[in-house]
Amino acid sequence: METITSSNQAIALEDQYGAHNYHPLPVVLAKGEGVFLWDVEGKKYFDFLSAYSAVNQGHCHPSILNALIEQAGTLTLTSRAFHNNVLGPFEKYITDYFGFDKVLPMNTGAEGVETAIKIARKWGYEKNGIEENQAKIIVAENNFHGRTTTIISFSNDSNARKNFGPFTEGFIRIPYNDITALKAALKKENVVAFLVEPIQGEAGVYVPADNYIKEAKAACEAANVLLIADEIQTGIARTGSLLAVCGNCTCEKSCEQQATYTKPDMLILGKAISGGFYPVSAVLADNHIMEVIKPGQHGSTFGGNPLGAKVAIAALEVVSDENLAQNARRLGKIFRDRMQALVEKYPIMKLVRGKGLLNAVVINDSEDSSTAWDICVALKDNGLLAKPTHGNIIRFAPPLVMTEDQIHECCDIIEKTIKAF
Ligand SMILES: Cc1ncc(COP(=O)(O)O)c(C=O)c1O
Repeated sequence: METITSSNQAIALEDQYGAHNYHPLPVVLAKGEGVFLWDVEGKKYFDFLSAYSAVNQGHCHPSILNALIEQAGTLTLTSRAFHNNVLGPFEKYITDYFGFDKVLPMNTGAEGVETAIKIARKWGYEKNGIEENQAKIIVAENNFHGRTTTIISFSNDSNARKNFGPFTEGFIRIPYNDITALKAALKKENVVAFLVEPIQGEAGVYVPADNYIKEAKAACEAANVLLIADEIQTGIARTGSLLAVCGNCTCEKSCEQQATYTKPDMLILGKAISGGFYPVSAVLADNHIMEVIKPGQHGSTFGGNPLGAKVAIAALEVVSDENLAQNARRLGKIFRDRMQALVEKYPIMKLVRGKGLLNAVVINDSEDSSTAWDICVALKDNGLLAKPTHGNIIRFAPPLVMTEDQIHECCDIIEKTIKAF
């Protein structure tokens, strides 16, 4: 392997030998620890993206690292042709943690979404009398659920779709955060599910009305339709509760006893379920739904492997042991208050929104301007890494292990940067 001695060298290699399917900030990272990242030249940064919310527990968390090392030296992969001695304990742990009867483990977030779509359709045909091949799933405008052919089939992001057709049928798109539109769509024939992000992350951190998910669940229930919550980005304490569907509850378990909690019929998790060490995703549901899946009908060579299972248990333990939901809630409020003060002071900042430590600042410029990008480059130069999403929006999502002093230091960096624009 070629030894990397400079950022330019690393960027040139990626440019020459890698597909150009991303447009990264010009920084080459070589090391991470907690809330910090270091580039090839040794410059230190605050991470304000957390690998799109996969590293909620902080980079290279020692207890997840130990679990990984121990399991990697014992047994990594058996396939599901045989049982392994970690899968069962993981399944018990995660179903208990999130309050569902069963889990179906996969690897990436998109696979989790695909899995939920397949289960929902099968449930519709086998439990709900829908005629074969007629099932419809309701989705929201500006959704982001991943990159597979089926998932982009119901996206309205032209860049994600152009020249990738033909697309998968069977989706009805409605405006986000619009219960009237949902109720109208639920009246259509053959609807089996409503797939929704409780907060739209990629779209630019759109937080719906407080009771949106609760009302959506009630409307779905009345129509005998499944509510599928994609919490791949919002889950695992990111938004100041264990799940965004927990509402305002900060306890470290999802629980039906809490009035603010809305239990989805299916819950999709990914990203931080393994603290960024290993791709693990999961679909959780109760028996009456999960039982439609029989041997040979769905799976993955790596899904449910002992290494991923062990890592995921350790990563979830960190979330509760370190009260990450409460920390995200407390620091999120400080962050938004500080950003709001900047919005009032600097016209370049239009607004701040978000929940817990999933926040976005909208820059006061046109959507196709480069201002948000330029600000992110300047933030980088000042020691903080964030990335624009959809033109003029900057998402701010640090690891949840950040301290109060650190978040203030970061807000100071953001203010210093914004001042210069
Ligand atoms: C809400 C949501 N769903 C699905 C995905 C896809 O996950 P993955 O990139 O692991 O396939 C993402 C990734 O950003 C996401 O934010």
